[in-house]
Amino acid sequence: MVEKKIDHILVSEDKIRQMVERLGAEITRDYQGKDLFLIGVLKGSFVFLADLVRHIRVPCRIDFMSVSSYVGEKSTGVVRINKDLDYSIAGEHVLIVEDIVDSGLTLRHLKALLSTRGPKSIRFATAFDKPSRRKVDVDIDYIGMTIPDEFIVGYGLDLDGYYRNYPEVVVLSDEDV
Ligand code: IMP
Ligand code: MG
Repeated sequence: MVEKKIDHILVSEDKIRQMVERLGAEITRDYQGKDLFLIGVLKGSFVFLADLVRHIRVPCRIDFMSVSSYVGEKSTGVVRINKDLDYSIAGEHVLIVEDIVDSGLTLRHLKALLSTRGPKSIRFATAFDKPSRRKVDVDIDYIGMTIPDEFIVGYGLDLDGYYRNYPEVVVLSDEDV
């Protein structure tokens, strides 16, 4: 792998920590007296989800799902499931956790798919939101941070599978390390 230099740090570890704590507190407050069913959308969400769950103080179960969206001209909510959930979500309060919402297509597809399985409620949380890139309107209930239209890596987000391990969110430069 040819490692690229960091152009700039967009979100520091400190800012990420504050953001996760705030979201955890909001979720804890909103789900008082309920059980929560968290779904991490693989792979990008694994770092955020791991941090977030440690700030959620209601009983919760955690499951994972991996999907690919088909973004064709006649795309009508088609999503391919690479890895499905292990548990049933019938009657559950579901919170889908994403790393980043970009076009919004993945989120829309997931909602259409999971709504057919009889959950009591479905909400969305994302660490990062790039609203400038939206192709379809989506409702996001918990947003960590709104970011400009830049390609970011780190904190679970990748370029060709790499850089997910960087603890902060960075924009890469064209130059090699
Ligand atoms: P969308 O909202 O359906 O367009 O898809 C969002 C997905 O695209 C995310 O889950 C990421 O995997 C990927 N993605 C979008 N923007 C970025 C980025 O800036 N860095 C890394 N991955 C991104
Ligand atoms: Mg992703």
